[in-house]
Amino acid sequence: MRVKVTEVGPRDGLQNEAKTIPTDVKVRFVDALSEAGYEEIEVSAFVSPDRVPQLADAEEVFARIRRREGTLYSALVPNERGLERALRARIGKAAVFTAASETFNRKNVNASIAESIERFKPVVEGARGASIPVRGYVSTAFWCPYEGKIAPEAVVDVVKRLTDLGVDEISIGDTIGKAVPADVMTLLDRLLDHVDQDRLAMHFHDTYGTAIANVLASYERGISTFDSSAGGVGGCPFAPGASGNVATEDVIWALTQSGADVAPDLGRVRAATDLLGSALGRSLHRAPGSTSAPPG
Ligand code: HMG
Ligand code: MG
Repeated sequence: MRVKVTEVGPRDGLQNEAKTIPTDVKVRFVDALSEAGYEEIEVSAFVSPDRVPQLADAEEVFARIRRREGTLYSALVPNERGLERALRARIGKAAVFTAASETFNRKNVNASIAESIERFKPVVEGARGASIPVRGYVSTAFWCPYEGKIAPEAVVDVVKRLTDLGVDEISIGDTIGKAVPADVMTLLDRLLDHVDQDRLAMHFHDTYGTAIANVLASYERGISTFDSSAGGVGGCPFAPGASGNVATEDVIWALTQSGADVAPDLGRVRAATDLLGSALGRSLHRAPGSTSAPPG
């Protein structure tokens, strides 16, 4: 089965870094990722620069990256203001984002779930007018850092509202990385009654070390799009305790060894991780075979 890996490292990976990362490093990181041949790279976010200072240079990053034919360069777009900025920056795909937990959504975007979906209407319309596809994220689909375990019904409800709105793809987020395969299968069994499996993406963080098992469980259920970050960088500034995304290197390895056809080249992803690790001055998720990682 053909599987798409959406690289979210430049956005989800870098949004949580405490130290300001120079724009030049971001551009070189995205360019190195482009060399790996992804279908989609989430480059940045057109959110409030006061809320997420690390991504305040979204326009400049988009202006300076080398765009590879065949790769969609996407970004988070929370509202109309974000869409205006994003269209000027020539994004290839817009991602709106809400949650299955009211408390998390309020902390993240300062709105209830219903209010946030209301804000998306002009974003989806505007993107459609510009012939740009739209992804909708549902965060805290398994656990919320404030409300605890989330019922699958709450996720189904938000997913239905997003499909009614006309988003093309929905990414189900385990924001704080606590789900296990049994949770994933329970949720997917409910969701797949309402939405086609080809429209779903799974977005796992790896706080409890179960992300790769969750990817494989989703793959077994027929899911063919996975979000991951090179070197496993990442986290959410509004979800205390959230660790990085599942590492792209692990996703490529686990899926190809399970018979999937995956586009990004593992060696080149490792090279992008090495580049970022050197720039951040720390060793990222151990990528076997990368120059900065121990052998074995
Ligand atoms: P708001 O807080 O409701 O405020 O914004 P507002 O709309 O009243 O605007 C407040 C100020 O922000 C105003 O400026 C606006 O102009 C400005 P002021 O008049 O005070 O000078 N503003 C903007 N500036 C630039 N671009 C914009 C924009 N919008 C407003 N687009 C908003 C709502 C959502 C924008 C804000 O709360 C925000 O930016 N929050 C940050 C959300 C975020 O980026 N979270 C992390 C990403 S989500 C995630 O990581 C989860 C995910 O990975 C999946 C998973 O793991 O589950 C996707
Ligand atoms: Mg995330």
